[in-house]
Amino acid sequence: MKTLHIKTFGCQMNVYDSARMADLLAPLGYRPVNDPARADMVILNTCHIREKAADKVFSDLGRLRLDKQAAAAEGRRMVLVVAGCVAQAEGAEILRRAPYVDLVVGPQGYTRLPDLLARLGPPAGQRVATEFPVEPKFDLLPAPSADGPSAFLSVQEGCDRFCAFCVVPYTRGAEYSRPAAEVLADARALVRQGVREITLVGQNVNAYHGAPGGLGRLLRDLAGLDRLDRLRYTTSHPADMDDDLVAAHRDVPALMPFLHLPVQSGADRVLKAMNRRHTADDYRRTVDRLRAARPDIALSSDFIVGFPGETEAEFAATMDLVAEIGFAQAYSFKYSPRPGTPAAELPDRVPDAVAGDRLTRLQDRLNADQEAFNRACVGRVMPVLLDRPGRHPGQLVGRGPYMQAVHAPSRTARLGDLVDLEIVAAHPNSLSGLPVGATADTRVCA
Ligand code: 5AD
Ligand code: SF4
Repeated sequence: MKTLHIKTFGCQMNVYDSARMADLLAPLGYRPVNDPARADMVILNTCHIREKAADKVFSDLGRLRLDKQAAAAEGRRMVLVVAGCVAQAEGAEILRRAPYVDLVVGPQGYTRLPDLLARLGPPAGQRVATEFPVEPKFDLLPAPSADGPSAFLSVQEGCDRFCAFCVVPYTRGAEYSRPAAEVLADARALVRQGVREITLVGQNVNAYHGAPGGLGRLLRDLAGLDRLDRLRYTTSHPADMDDDLVAAHRDVPALMPFLHLPVQSGADRVLKAMNRRHTADDYRRTVDRLRAARPDIALSSDFIVGFPGETEAEFAATMDLVAEIGFAQAYSFKYSPRPGTPAAELPDRVPDAVAGDRLTRLQDRLNADQEAFNRACVGRVMPVLLDRPGRHPGQLVGRGPYMQAVHAPSRTARLGDLVDLEIVAAHPNSLSGLPVGATADTRVCA
């Protein structure tokens, strides 16, 4: 028996890949542990999307170097692996700056982990796998194993949209959609293991074209699976929201009324410079279509402030769009120039202090909107899928339809249950719920 610690940075694609790495290594006797210092193998599954995320890898490696030395002093070998998008983009740099790293594997190359390990040889025999294999990585992966009632299922890899700020088309490669039959087979395997909610993940998931009819058709097919109660998908591009997919929000009850639809900016000139290929009004119209199909749909988004050349008026256009749409939740970032992307070459960098000030103003507004949305949930009854223990004893946590974390007293339900809860309190980032008709006695736990 060997031990494995995986630390995951970044997006849901990485969460999915980390789970598959664990699946690939399980037959070799590796079981997961929480403490990296005690692990026989540590994998950092890294993110390259912004400079800050990429920098974290090197600070983590510095700490792991000491753990690895301590292990060696005890006569144990710790295999140190850097995976993910930093591995893909900066493989050589990682080996130069951290020569104690044993393996560097990209988002497509990690399927070779068992083979690379077998050939690892004595310490310092480093190996790198950052090629994009001809055979899609999904053909090289074992059937997914479930870890709880909610699972990510990757239907797509890479992106062909080339937004000017984004490293994804370079780190993840060209877009590839898995055939629908394969996706359905994985979904069935997950459902057999008790999974009740599947989130389809892809870098630009609504461009999925692994079957005629695209993502809308795939969602309808998945909704036909017995005991699969909930479907979600992420992350989407506004210009790929076709009519059938919008209609799926009307027709498929299992499809949750929540959509993460990044807009990035509310100013048309900025959107054009970002190569987003839609206007702010196009986005408004898409939201209107979605709300017409599913009136209770809640929206989430991503924003970048301080994109090169962004003026105060253009930032104000973003604030206007935010005020109009009313997002239930959102992520926002300062623009971070990424090597190799077209935007990194643009003139008129926005000074950091200006971008920081805009980010604060935007986040204040987004946070206020999120709190208002959460407060509006109080008094409502919503189905919650309890998927993890809470931080406090006697508490379970799950997700409602709108992705908020909902805390509930554990003595009234079990992990994995989908229960109707009455929302009794709202907090900035979560809700508290009680079983419908609960007595005052049960309320103390919430
Ligand atoms: N700088 C800042 N934010 C970025 N994102 C992607 N690339 C960058 C960058 N270079 C943000 C976008 C995207 C989210 C995943 O990360 O908002 O939607
Ligand atoms: Fe990056 Fe998303 Fe644009 Fe693709 S659609 S290039 S993943 S921001």
